[in-house]
Amino acid sequence: MSTTAFDDAARPRSLIVITGSSRGLGEALARQSLEAGHLVVGIARGRSETLERFAHERGLPLQQWQADLAHPLTIAQHLADWLRTQPGDWSAATLINNAGVVTTPGPIDGESLERLSGALRVGLEATVLLSAAFLDATRAWPADRKVLNISSGLGRRAMAGSALYCAAKAGMDNLSRAMALDEEHKAAKGERAARVVSLAPGIIDTDMQAQLRGGDASKFPDRDRFAAFKAEGQLASADDTARQVLKFLSRNDFGQQVLADVRDA
Ligand SMILES: NC(=O)c1ccc[n+]([C@@H]2O[C@H](COP(=O)([O-])OP(=O)(O)OC[C@H]3O[C@@H](n4cnc5c(N)ncnc54)[C@H](OP(=O)(O)O)[C@@H]3O)[C@@H](O)[C@H]2O)c1
Repeated sequence: MSTTAFDDAARPRSLIVITGSSRGLGEALARQSLEAGHLVVGIARGRSETLERFAHERGLPLQQWQADLAHPLTIAQHLADWLRTQPGDWSAATLINNAGVVTTPGPIDGESLERLSGALRVGLEATVLLSAAFLDATRAWPADRKVLNISSGLGRRAMAGSALYCAAKAGMDNLSRAMALDEEHKAAKGERAARVVSLAPGIIDTDMQAQLRGGDASKFPDRDRFAAFKAEGQLASADDTARQVLKFLSRNDFGQQVLADVRDA
């Protein structure tokens, strides 16, 4: 795992952990969070050289941890251990579960069992374990704590050719609703509580969209609709979406509506 060292005296006041930070929406979220003055911990298999350079040139505090979220136990434990070594006097601490995977567009019986398993682990198991590790390790922190899960409209409606993805996002949504109830219950007992949201980010011009419009139409009936999103300029840029997501994250009423869509904000 790579770490860009930063001067302790200039330590930022808030921390954001972002999964899937090596490209797409996660990379844009990480860059804008660095610009806003947060300490950013990014988690992905790859590392973004662009992000590394961006942080290095400006002396901004970035850590990029390379880990495979299809095997999330070790990295979730590492996150908990690392958080416990932190001073804990942040004004805010946020976990953004952004990493997500679409399998080959088509029915689940056309995909390898290994890839189905991996995608479900990245989309759902990693979200559960990282959230649990984050909430437990930061339990005593006075910081404003938030968990933001990056969901999808496909968690709320089904689409042929993407059953695994629909299942992972629907799981993420109801996980978030139940976690929010747990946090409410903690607050009612006078314990420190975190705020939880599952946010659909709209359609974004990233590798994930390329994968969908590159699918085989005979197995993925919506393929042409995804091709049209790109051809007709309907996709938002990762930067614009990240801006909207971070604006949503900073809302005073963040957490009041657990299932949200950035386009309704
Ligand atoms: N793009 C859209 O139109 C759209 C629409 C609705 C929702 N979303 C959601 O928005 C989020 C970001 O999507 P995106 O479009 O930015 O996707 P993307 O461009 O495909 O990027 C996915 C990110 O997840 C990471 N990731 C994938 N598998 C991983 C693994 N096994 N371990 C660790 N990290 C892994 C990737 O990093 P590595 O490959 O380096 O590991 C990458 O940083 C996802 O949750 C997606 O479901 C996207």
